[in-house]
Amino acid sequence: RCFSSVLSACGMAAVWQQVLAVDARYNAYRTPTFPQFRTQYIRRRSQLLRENAKCGFEPGLRRQYLRLRSQLLALRYGPLSEQSSFRASSVRSSRTTLDRMEDFEEDPRAQGARGHRRSVSRGSYQLQAQMNRAVYDERPPGSLVPTSVAEASRAMAGDTTLSENYAFAGMHHIFDQHVDSAVPRLQFANDDKHLLACCSLDGTLSIMTLSPPPASVKVTLKGHGGPVTDFAWSLSNDIIVSTSLDGTLRIWNTEDGRCIREVRDPESSELLCCTFQPMNNNLTVVGNSKHHLQVVNISTGKKVKGGSSKLTGRVLSLSFDAPGRILWAGDDRGSIFSFLFDMATGKLTKAKRLVVSEGSSICSISARSWISREARDPSLLVNACVNKLLLYRVVDNEGTLQLKRSFPIQHGSQLVHSIFCPLMSFRQGACVVTGSEDGCVYFFDVERNTKAIVNKLQGHGGPVLDVSFNCDESLLASADSTGMVIIWRREQK
Ligand SMILES: *[C@@H]1O[C@H](CO)[C@@H](O)[C@H](O)[C@H]1NC(C)=O
Ligand SMILES: *[C@@H]1O[C@H](CO)[C@@H](O)[C@H](O)[C@H]1NC(C)=O
Repeated sequence: RCFSSVLSACGMAAVWQQVLAVDARYNAYRTPTFPQFRTQYIRRRSQLLRENAKCGFEPGLRRQYLRLRSQLLALRYGPLSEQSSFRASSVRSSRTTLDRMEDFEEDPRAQGARGHRRSVSRGSYQLQAQMNRAVYDERPPGSLVPTSVAEASRAMAGDTTLSENYAFAGMHHIFDQHVDSAVPRLQFANDDKHLLACCSLDGTLSIMTLSPPPASVKVTLKGHGGPVTDFAWSLSNDIIVSTSLDGTLRIWNTEDGRCIREVRDPESSELLCCTFQPMNNNLTVVGNSKHHLQVVNISTGKKVKGGSSKLTGRVLSLSFDAPGRILWAGDDRGSIFSFLFDMATGKLTKAKRLVVSEGSSICSISARSWISREARDPSLLVNACVNKLLLYRVVDNEGTLQLKRSFPIQHGSQLVHSIFCPLMSFRQGACVVTGSEDGCVYFFDVERNTKAIVNKLQGHGGPVLDVSFNCDESLLASADSTGMVIIWRREQK
């Protein structure tokens, strides 16, 4: 009763999404023995959010509500950031069932007998989209967020709107099985709209499926003796390789979750990143904390001769170009190296080095050979702890980089990642998506000279570390430092 009177006094979109985020974070602690109530609870929250969004009240009041609510939840369930053994065990018992949100359309039962609920859920998608727009409209002129007027004029000028194309407002599902430990990486499987995986600092990986509903954790990959730092799907999705601070590379069977092989780092150092050679999935490249890069033949578990090299710092990020001929590797001293990869032997040859910013970690590198239909130039997208997302042009066959442009984001220290949108757009423009330390997911149009932000998703309760699109771009997944994974559904036009 007391809450609902406060609720009706609130309304600002951004704060409401934050309230939902706080509640979603605590959801794993609620009714551990009756997980179905948790789903209902979040649904009801979402509904209240819809009902109360229309009132226009003073922002300070709403923020105060958010603060109070966080404090009350922390009193009731304990603060989420510190790990007490009591809470760890109570969470574990409640981790098995996940909260299903807003997936009524795919659930035949919901469409029949409970059809009224479906309309509620649809309404809340639209609402969240409206709210996102409202957030833009609140911005003062001259800020980086496009106004609806500017968008309309672009549309009238015959310019197709990328922002409509990337209106990812509605939350489709929230996974909370890793709550309390950061989820540094997540990735949808290849050519499978509903399969994705993530790794966690809790030492496990999860493979999750979104269809048939309800969304669920299909299998948990257990075995690493320390935080899992990175992983990659093989092209046929039958294998996942992962790296851990325990100093091992593990190869997993994704069907049954069995660990097929464990390859120990010869230097016994922490392994920080890995990637498949795109043309030969028998080979993976692994980066460690002693500055080394190593090609490993996963069918034998052996190092490939001539397949190692040294960087200037801890190896944090790796990316091949699509043909697998150039490999870029980034370290924590601010350097990106390019290597030529010899397909026949697996040998690496160091080619170029670029110092992005002395001492700033290169957290994420993604390569793309065609950026859009209009701009075919090979490009590299880089997160480098410089409060900017950087886009480089690849100017030769040795992987030399030239800065093309940058986009402001909040990024100073965390391992924030970004991606190119997978579909090559037949509209104007091209889109990139990045996490950010302010808890938002940002979409930028790399072809747009001014007002490059096309969308911004709010809902995470901590820095967003990774983002991933499924193959047809109908869903976007994002993961954060509090262990929450949000699946966002694209608005249906
Ligand atoms: C990978 O290794 C297996 C044997 O372990 C071999 O049959 C297969 O042809 C190899 N694939 C490539 C692309 O070299
Ligand atoms: C990897 O190991 C397989 C199986 O022994 C072998 O056939 C293949 O040639 C090796 N690849 C490289 C690049 O060493």
